[in-house]
Amino acid sequence: MILVTGGAGFIGANFVLDWIASTGEPVLNLDALTYAGNLESLKSVAGDARHVFVKGDIGDRALLDRLLAEHRPRAVIHFAAESHVDRSIHGPGAFIKTNIEGTYTLLEAVRAHWSSLAGDAKAAFRFHHVSTDEVYGSLGPGDPAFTETHTYEPNSPYSASKAASDHLVRAWHHTYGLPVLTTNCSNNYGPYHFPEKLIPLMIVNALAGKPLPVYGDGMQVRDWLYVKDHAAAIRAVLAQGRPGETYNVGGWNERPNIEIVRSICALLDEMRPDAAGSYTRLITHVTDRPGHDRRYAIDARKIERELGWRPAETFETGIRKTVRWYLDNADWVQHVQSGSYRDWVATNYSARTAA
Ligand code: NAD
Ligand code: TYD
Repeated sequence: MILVTGGAGFIGANFVLDWIASTGEPVLNLDALTYAGNLESLKSVAGDARHVFVKGDIGDRALLDRLLAEHRPRAVIHFAAESHVDRSIHGPGAFIKTNIEGTYTLLEAVRAHWSSLAGDAKAAFRFHHVSTDEVYGSLGPGDPAFTETHTYEPNSPYSASKAASDHLVRAWHHTYGLPVLTTNCSNNYGPYHFPEKLIPLMIVNALAGKPLPVYGDGMQVRDWLYVKDHAAAIRAVLAQGRPGETYNVGGWNERPNIEIVRSICALLDEMRPDAAGSYTRLITHVTDRPGHDRRYAIDARKIERELGWRPAETFETGIRKTVRWYLDNADWVQHVQSGSYRDWVATNYSARTAA
């Protein structure tokens, strides 16, 4: 079996569902169920013997040792993290704790487990670290996209904590020989995405007739990848990636935020027209994010050349599926909009004046 950390979060849950459907191999899913973890996203595998869920923290060494000894996974895929830039600005401490200290504790537990293996099991073992393009910092409009050798220039507490975790993973390979793989992926979108991030927030707010808060001029550029394509990329790297290597994963799809918001409005106008008029009427430019990175872009040629992976979805097909999913899963959305979600919305948006 494989051990997945953070498998109740957005990408982790999509990965677990995709993994079980495409490989049938059992998954041990360790997740602390923070505000971002949601077992409802895993409802379809709730009674499935191939999915074993354990609520716990990656910083709990005794728990990690016990789980590794009991289940003896052949690979660990590490998604667990604090993942939201705006939250890292309001409270960086949790990012240091989970993303840096948690990854360190996990690496040490996995190193002990891997050291106890022998022969083929030891040779085949992999630790796959799931990271982000944000570690590379911000690009100017004409700069080439990030390659795997781009310098690390993280600008937010979130990206700095992920950069630190990438460095730890690298060092555990170079110093101890741990067979690690790292993927640095661009912005994901798709089903089960918590509505604090741009795309689900815009869909959910539009459906509720609330303002669509675009930070600053909305001309910040991200590269967007449909989450199931990310899951497929991780499967490819896990199967064939070379230990110690990093692979950039992206959608070949750079777009400014305002264009993303307009695409969502256009789809909602088509699929759920509002008598009050186009959803674009709700677009509101608000105070920018401090230190806001202007542009991310991924050069995903290495993973294509070496492993034959390319995204299957275009932005048009992926965003249509995503909007459809949110329209069809109003219950999931309603359940995640708990008291703590409302507190976060007040924290992040009440001091942002219309710009
Ligand atoms: P998420 O915030 O939706 O999910 C994170 C999950 O980790 C949650 O289920 C949470 O409960 C769990 N978790 C948090 N702290 C934990 C701890 N101490 N111990 C155990 N579990 C803990 O995040 P996501 O968007 O699914 O991102 C998953 C990974 O992918 C992260 O490492 C993130 O940096 C990386 N990534 C995300 C994106 C993106 O666009 N969302 C892009 C590239 C890389
Ligand atoms: P986000 O989804 O938080 O991802 P990241 O910051 O990791 O790229 O934000 C994506 C982009 O959307 C980013 O440039 C910030 C912007 N944004 C808004 O304009 N308004 C919002 O309410 C949010 C949450 C994000």
